[in-house]
Amino acid sequence: MAELRNIVVLTGAGISAESGIDTFRDAGGLWDKHRVEDVATPQGYERDPALVQRFYDARREAVQKVAPNPAHEALARLDREWEGGLLIVTQNVDDLHERAGASRVVHMHGELLSALCPICERRHRWTGPLIDRPECPSCEARSLRPDVVWFGEMPYQMDRIYAALRSAHLFVSIGTSGAVYPAAGFVSDARELGMKTLELNLERSEGSHWFHESREGPAGKLVPEWVDELLGTG
Ligand code: APR
Repeated sequence: MAELRNIVVLTGAGISAESGIDTFRDAGGLWDKHRVEDVATPQGYERDPALVQRFYDARREAVQKVAPNPAHEALARLDREWEGGLLIVTQNVDDLHERAGASRVVHMHGELLSALCPICERRHRWTGPLIDRPECPSCEARSLRPDVVWFGEMPYQMDRIYAALRSAHLFVSIGTSGAVYPAAGFVSDARELGMKTLELNLERSEGSHWFHESREGPAGKLVPEWVDELLGTG
């Protein structure tokens, strides 16, 4: 694979499912149990901030009780051993990529373990609840919100993501339904840029038809196999 040097990997909730974190749109997923409009929009937060804070406080607590799975570990290994360019673009707000050891990671939808102050615009690592309106460590305002991107808000680090896509030779999508833009559009961007595209997902997604190759199965099995192939250790 002489020509293959730079890789962009997109991950979604499916990569963390085997760690015990709910996905959004699968049966029994988060959007089966909560109304998106209530807990994942600025309007919902304005209407009922306590409801929203409770939703993210519970997820923040839960993520600290689970561990990375073999799919996260395989991507961390790729990050350590791949000499070319690599960017792991995750839609996930959990910290399992980093806990597995990956560092070339961008959280385009934010992070659960971070609180954002809308007053001074500073971010703070946060592991506890926000429901009690704690003071911002920088400006002491009591307006901290979850540092996650809600529907209708701009995802983070889009310039960095598009720059990586423009210089990539391979785009891989893992554990995402392809239901949410702009992430769902990366594969068609990748095709337009002329690179190879691969999907690793439990089942066909809304964007499967865009991929040169789609492999179906659990990420915990497919991702280590793919990384072995790439590093020639399969
Ligand atoms: N291995 C691989 N894929 C899996 C697994 C698994 N063990 N379990 C589920 N999947 C797949 C499902 O088949 C589905 O295609 O993961 C996908 C999960 O899709 P969603 O629940 O829609 O999650 P995601 O694509 O990450 O959602 C995108 O939507 O709600 C917003 O901001 C939120 O980042 C999120 C975005």
